[in-house]
Amino acid sequence: MAIQLQRPHAAVVFLCFLTCGLSIPDPRQREALMQLEAYMQTGGQMVLTDAEQRLDTLLFKMKQEEMARADFPPSMHFFRARDLIRTSPIFSLLRKMPKGGALHVHDFSMVDAEWLVKNATYRPHCYMCRTDSQSVRFIFSSQRPRALPLCSPWVLLEELRAKTINATELDNSIMRNLTLFTDQDPEAAYPSQDVVWGTFEQTFLALWGLVTYAPVFRDYYYQGLTQFYRDNVMYLELRALLPQVYELDGSTHDRAWTLKTYQDVTRQFTAEHPDFFGTRIIVTINRGVNASVMTKAVEEAMKLKKGFPDFMAGFDMVGREDRGRPLWYFRDALSLPVEEGVTLPFFFHAGETDLEGTDVDQNLLDALLLNTSRIGHGFALLHHPVAKDLSRKRGVAVEVCPISNQVLKLVKDLRNHPAAALMSENHPMVISSDDPAMFGSSGLSYDFYEAFVGFGGIKSHIGSLKQLALNSIRYSSLPSEQQNKAMSEWQRRWNKFVSENDF
Ligand SMILES: *[C@@H]1O[C@H](CO)[C@@H](O)[C@H](O)[C@H]1NC(C)=O
Ligand SMILES: *[C@@H]1O[C@H](CO)[C@@H](O)[C@H](O)[C@H]1NC(C)=O
Ligand SMILES: *[C@@H]1O[C@H](CO)[C@@H](O)[C@H](O)[C@H]1NC(C)=O
Ligand SMILES: *[C@@H]1O[C@H](CO)[C@@H](O)[C@H](O)[C@H]1NC(C)=O
Ligand SMILES: *[C@@H]1O[C@H](CO)[C@@H](O)[C@H](O)[C@H]1NC(C)=O
Ligand SMILES: [Zn+2]
Repeated sequence: MAIQLQRPHAAVVFLCFLTCGLSIPDPRQREALMQLEAYMQTGGQMVLTDAEQRLDTLLFKMKQEEMARADFPPSMHFFRARDLIRTSPIFSLLRKMPKGGALHVHDFSMVDAEWLVKNATYRPHCYMCRTDSQSVRFIFSSQRPRALPLCSPWVLLEELRAKTINATELDNSIMRNLTLFTDQDPEAAYPSQDVVWGTFEQTFLALWGLVTYAPVFRDYYYQGLTQFYRDNVMYLELRALLPQVYELDGSTHDRAWTLKTYQDVTRQFTAEHPDFFGTRIIVTINRGVNASVMTKAVEEAMKLKKGFPDFMAGFDMVGREDRGRPLWYFRDALSLPVEEGVTLPFFFHAGETDLEGTDVDQNLLDALLLNTSRIGHGFALLHHPVAKDLSRKRGVAVEVCPISNQVLKLVKDLRNHPAAALMSENHPMVISSDDPAMFGSSGLSYDFYEAFVGFGGIKSHIGSLKQLALNSIRYSSLPSEQQNKAMSEWQRRWNKFVSENDF
């Protein structure tokens, strides 16, 4: 359990290999090897205060109890594990812990489905129709909207609720359309990657008409910031599609308006919560588009970056990597910024796949060739030693999203997640939550729990948590002066957290 703060004597270890080979292994040599591994892991070199060490002793006891359970949450599907995690004392500590920034979160999965139903759909002028594939679509409109193909006639929800005997049941059925989370057996509900991605995409289409309505758009983002803030996240890098946002009369706004609105709401939120550090936006486009659409998108992103140099962090692509086009296909478009001498940092999703050796599987190396600032997911990184080495040497951090990878069926038991290996060698990485509302989680704490208890096992400790939080600032897109400010604010909150949990 003891945390090794001194560099173990590697020389002793190797000397012994030469001289102790013929007898039973030397216990001192064994100890030295174990210390070397403990030193190499994420947080292994962190110097801890007395109070931090006392908190670590407490965490260690909690973890031992957690690991002795028959129903160990990280080994189970998150939908089944969620209630167990909620009762875990480790989880309640993690909720209180200042976690730094969330660097991989998407725009329309920040806020739980319940808020969408109870708040957004209860506003006036909300119409709904049911699609042929058992999903729903929404629109706010001052007049009866024109019918959608493959959808039932629009009904005004206010009228439908008035006619419905049990409106709670109706609300629950709407809620099921707005998240992947289910009380049913998750393996039966989502037997394959195709099924789960199909539902994932339907769910986005279902909530689209709600969240792109201007008044909801603002409140949704404000509510999202609130949920992360309450989970003790102080900074966000939000991947945003910047869709056309519409008004009640059907008029629409352009992407610059949408980016400006994010900026205005962020300013309002930080004015009201001075210890929240802020948000930066990573503009995204679906990777299903063709080369000419991508060229236009990159050109537009360069323009937006000029207009919002501090608020916009850079550019990325979203959508199912296995089905979209690989990065290499877009190489011309993605080289425009460097050719034109314009700064447009990239934050590519890459290696969110188990299709070893396919074109898509090359995305990791291509992302690095295109000078990506971080790697989204990097699930396949262990299959690419060259990419892994480059990512380490250049400090291109991997954004690990444990629950997302499990729900989208890349890994079943989170103890076997490839990031467990990355964490055992202190690879540059951060923990994030991708699409928390889709997965029935929220903020960052659930993913921190899975990483700390699942990847780390018994050997990760308070130093690992501290390192992961610090990484989220160090590998953020913030300029170094701002990073220093964020770092000292985080340190202040961390000291408070440690002293409040010092018994
Ligand atoms: C929705 O939330 C907003 C912002 O918190 C609040 O002002 C509004 O009254 C809520 N609307 C409903 C219908 O609950
Ligand atoms: C309405 O449905 C909900 C959910 O199924 C149930 O809990 C509740 O008792 C029902 N209310 C009435 C008045 O039947
Ligand atoms: C989606 O909502 C509609 C309308 O209430 C309902 O008929 C359908 O069963 C819901 N879908 C799911 C997956 O629950
Ligand atoms: C690319 O996609 C756009 C939009 O779908 C389409 O209008 C255009 O014709 C496509 N271009 C090529 C070269 O296929
Ligand atoms: C990546 O960086 C290298 C070295 O600075 C540079 O030569 C190259 O043009 C960059 N490529 C892109 C696409 O940004
Ligand atoms: Zn993502």
